[in-house]
Amino acid sequence: MHVRPGRPDRARPSGAAATAAFLCLALTALGAAPATAVQPLSPSPTLASPSGGSARSLGGPVVYAHRGASAYAPENTLESIDRAMALGFDWVENDVQRTRDGVLVVIHDDTLTRTTDVKRVFPDRGPWRVKDFTAAEIARLDAGSWFDKRFAGARVPTLREYMERVGRNRQRLLLELKEPEASPGIERQILDLLDELGWLDEPHVTRRLVVQSFSADSIRTVHALRPDLRTAFLGTPNVADLPRYAAFTDQINPQHTTISAGWVAAVHRLLGAHGKPMEVDTWIVDDAATARKVKEMGVDGIITNAPDVVRHAVGPLQAFG
Ligand code: G3P
Ligand code: CA
Repeated sequence: MHVRPGRPDRARPSGAAATAAFLCLALTALGAAPATAVQPLSPSPTLASPSGGSARSLGGPVVYAHRGASAYAPENTLESIDRAMALGFDWVENDVQRTRDGVLVVIHDDTLTRTTDVKRVFPDRGPWRVKDFTAAEIARLDAGSWFDKRFAGARVPTLREYMERVGRNRQRLLLELKEPEASPGIERQILDLLDELGWLDEPHVTRRLVVQSFSADSIRTVHALRPDLRTAFLGTPNVADLPRYAAFTDQINPQHTTISAGWVAAVHRLLGAHGKPMEVDTWIVDDAATARKVKEMGVDGIITNAPDVVRHAVGPLQAFG
């Protein structure tokens, strides 16, 4: 079980509850900020303590199941998040886009061809872009057989269906706005749905939800609409530019091949939009050696298709050993 200040434990274990309680006490004694406290927004980027916060080093990195446990089940389906849950992972990542008739759906590519049987069902509708199909049409597609025949019949979920399953599983969500430039207003639409489904109350925005995007403008918009919600920017800004991001986001989430220990430390030295040291969750790490390498760099989280492999590599509570 991983315990991390400001970000609760990854797993939902029952047997480890006593350990968790002990660790919470230990973190409190060490001065870790309580997970539920939403700090006032920084009027301008501020430097964190030189270490970036001593409590960070006490737990292993958070492990996120990328597009669900997508090494073992078709990505971005309900089956993929169920698989993550079965493996013991509560943080899942997804990608959100909008259909022709304005419905939010969970899918990564801007076309339906790689992960569904759209060419068979709608042979004359090329280039088969998500935004050119209605939600009812997309609901007809098989989003599982391309991965493995055992998953035949899996669907591209709507975001509503997806959130209901994440909630039922008691999981947490790293929600990515995928190419938001193509869907004006998608930030408010997503937030409205999350609000309707009860995902924007205090327990959710402080412990169960982070919104990320490669679009800084989109993250800035999300932050303006819901300043209490944690956000992340996907990318690797130059160190000199990091303070600009700290004004509206809490995390910088880079591709693992682009980072160094020095860059991670530079992010940690800044206070983010909620007055806490900024964090780094890196992607996509699917092998043990790379997982150990980025852990040594000091990352806070690892986003992976194979969460069990990464968990085994970085181990729970490494810093206590
Ligand atoms: O969560 C990070 C990762 O999902 C970003 O890349 O292309 O897989 O959405 P991509
Ligand atoms: Ca993604």
